[in-house]
Amino acid sequence: MRILAIETSCDDTSAAVLDDGTVRSNVVASQDEIHRKYGGVVPELASRSHMRRMVPIIDTALERAGVTLDDVDAIAATCGPGLVGSLLVGLTTAKAIAYARCLPFVAVNHLEGHLLSPRLEHHVDFPYVALLVSGGHTSLYLAEDLGRYRLLGATRDDAAGEAFDKVAKVMGLGFPGGRIIDELARQGDTSAVRMPRTRLKPQRDGSQFEFSFSGLKTAVWQMVRDHPLDSDTARADLAASFQETVVNTLLDTSFAAVGHVGCRQLVIAGGVSANSRLRERAHMVGAEMGVQVFIPPMRFCTDNAAMIALAGSYRLERGESDPWTVNAAADLEL
Ligand code: KG4
Ligand code: ZN
Repeated sequence: MRILAIETSCDDTSAAVLDDGTVRSNVVASQDEIHRKYGGVVPELASRSHMRRMVPIIDTALERAGVTLDDVDAIAATCGPGLVGSLLVGLTTAKAIAYARCLPFVAVNHLEGHLLSPRLEHHVDFPYVALLVSGGHTSLYLAEDLGRYRLLGATRDDAAGEAFDKVAKVMGLGFPGGRIIDELARQGDTSAVRMPRTRLKPQRDGSQFEFSFSGLKTAVWQMVRDHPLDSDTARADLAASFQETVVNTLLDTSFAAVGHVGCRQLVIAGGVSANSRLRERAHMVGAEMGVQVFIPPMRFCTDNAAMIALAGSYRLERGESDPWTVNAAADLEL
């Protein structure tokens, strides 16, 4: 089965072609240049840019895969969660192509795309614990089977990617913050600056695998306010110490969850899984604890249509498809 998939949930315009689980093309157009001067994604500009680029990106994805629309068997698109204006561009385009071509259509949850993304390159059996860590989410799931995901815990406030982006902003590093901090931290000392670690007590409902990053973000903001960063070393040390704290917090809780549910596999996915220190430490801790760690290759960490094609393909294989009435949902849950 050959699927054309479209992803426009936030600020990346992406289209991909998947042949029986193999990625033939995965084209991603970033909007960083458009949003950089505002220090964050401006929703109206994001959807306008998706509109301008959508058709050329689809054409490029088909061309790189060496096929035309005549060779496509089904269409998939992200329907949520995300920015509703952005989602509507990709979803409506996908529905229009499927309707005009009489092709089956599936609407995919963006989070399911991320959770399944390591399967684009690795064979990962169920069950596994998955840490989904992006600009909008920091959550732990138990993936029991395709379509069966149990939430084990999430952040009580900021997502980890959001903390990276905001800390980069207060440090005057620019946008998008995660990648910039990652690069800067390579020259810094991870123990140079003492950072607060938020320790959360289990909630009354028993949830114990939760995160909190707003205290850490505020602490960095206060540090920068009280002691302006006056050298490259000071900037690199702060970036490295902040990043190390986020990485340790993410991994301590994720490996605790793996131990709790008693499986031996951890998947890490979402934009922040591109972080080089997180990747390095996750593999080290996994090796020490006898837990297999799967992280998608860089190009499938941040938003991409290949993961949407994969999630869509599993549903199509089960004979499922969606009606034309399916709509975009900004806060769609998994
Ligand atoms: O999954 P994604 O592309 O979009 C969302 O669904 O949110 O994730 C984007 C997030 C941003 O917050 C970005 O700063 C972060 O992923 N990110 C990183 C790195 N690359 C992207 N965070 C830390 N280190 C990186 N190398
Ligand atoms: Zn994402």
